[in-house]
Amino acid sequence: AEPDPALAVPQAGAPSLTLLTRVGTTDPASLDDYRAHGGYTALRRAFDLGPAGVIREVTDAGLLGRGGAAFPTGRKWQATAAQPDHPHYLVCNADESEPGTFKDRVLMEGDPYALVEAMTVAAYATGAHRGYLYLRGEYPRALARLTHAIERARARGLLGDDVMGRGYAFDIEIRRGAGAYVCGEETALFNSIEGRRGEPRSKPPFPVEKGLFGKPTVANNVETLVNVLPILTLGARAYAAIGTPASTGPKLFCVSGSVARPGVYELPFGATLGELLTLAGVRDHLRAVLLGGAAGGFVRPDELDLPLTFEGTREAGTTLGSGVVMAFDDTVPLPRLLLRIAEFFRDESCGQCVPCRVGTVRQEEALRRIAERTGDAAAGDVALLREVGRAMRDASICGLGQTAWNAVESAIDRLGAYE
Ligand code: NAI
Ligand code: SF4
Repeated sequence: AEPDPALAVPQAGAPSLTLLTRVGTTDPASLDDYRAHGGYTALRRAFDLGPAGVIREVTDAGLLGRGGAAFPTGRKWQATAAQPDHPHYLVCNADESEPGTFKDRVLMEGDPYALVEAMTVAAYATGAHRGYLYLRGEYPRALARLTHAIERARARGLLGDDVMGRGYAFDIEIRRGAGAYVCGEETALFNSIEGRRGEPRSKPPFPVEKGLFGKPTVANNVETLVNVLPILTLGARAYAAIGTPASTGPKLFCVSGSVARPGVYELPFGATLGELLTLAGVRDHLRAVLLGGAAGGFVRPDELDLPLTFEGTREAGTTLGSGVVMAFDDTVPLPRLLLRIAEFFRDESCGQCVPCRVGTVRQEEALRRIAERTGDAAAGDVALLREVGRAMRDASICGLGQTAWNAVESAIDRLGAYE
């Protein structure tokens, strides 16, 4: 088959551990190829272990959610499985919209059967018989490949009334997003699937108790789900030996910006930011690195020893988020960049709650004044930004408003922007 340019994932000497092994090397349309390269061994093991056994493996493996919030997956699955209310639902959050994030796209385009198998494992463990795959609307190639993979799996008895002849029923429906960033927030996503306006709901109750259609629901990111396959094939102990004790396993990083080889890199947790940037070919005159995307924060070039783990970035006062690493050299005008981030949040705010609806507008206005001003002190606007930022963080309903000031704050405090 013709090599697919979108899947030319630069590894540049990085050891591909487990998640990307089939990407770019197998035919994403072929179920036979998938099976010939380890496909469906994890589901077979899951059936042998039983639902409780699968949850034990995922818990012992220490898997933390890869969508950005790092919540323990085993705990989420256990909480859903234990709910007496039925039916239970599985939702795969594939609405990857954080600026600078494109890892789930690479997985879905390059290894679509892996996601279908992983969703089947997750549903089996948590007692769901129906799964929704909520796919970012701007991912047409992923849509075509996943649609094909689901049809093939169904035709071969790997989805449907009697999966693998083991007496378990499960099927998957794809729903496409329509371009709203906020619909990646899990409860807005449920509303969108239900045909309502894509606005976040207040939590608690958490989805594990009351989620899609008000029923117990497991919502997991694509990369999180795909990690379940190596957990079952390697075993929890071998999986947990990858990475650090608190951030186990491999992680996909999306590297973009001022680097020679942008792309998705798979590294064990614990590699440093400097190591990752060296693989990606960081250019001279590095000015700043944005970690975690627009909702994340900046770090300085003298902080490249930072270990890429959830605990390491937290201790350093920043966040790993979903694995965004955007490098900026000194040709990038920082005030314009911050203004662009603020425009994004103002645009994407759903407007449901006041701190975010008004705060994102005020933030953008202040940043525009600063960016357009020549020579005048920005101190008054910086004080205003802090006040508005605090209100958004403390009083917004969902993560969008709560994180809309993160990048600007870190640019002021860590990079000395506007000094
Ligand atoms: P959250 O911390 O509220 O929740 C994380 C997950 O854990 C959710 O599934 C939630 O239902 C579950 N959870 C939390 N507490 C629970 C409890 N006590 N019992 C049961 N379940 C519980 O974070 P949220 O708002 O879901 O996600 C925020 C993150 O999303 C940010 O860190 C950001 O990095 C990331 N993000 C990622 C994007 C992407 O494109 N991948 C886009 C935008 C944000
Ligand atoms: Fe909507 Fe923003 Fe409130 Fe979230 S924080 S519910 S995006 S207005």
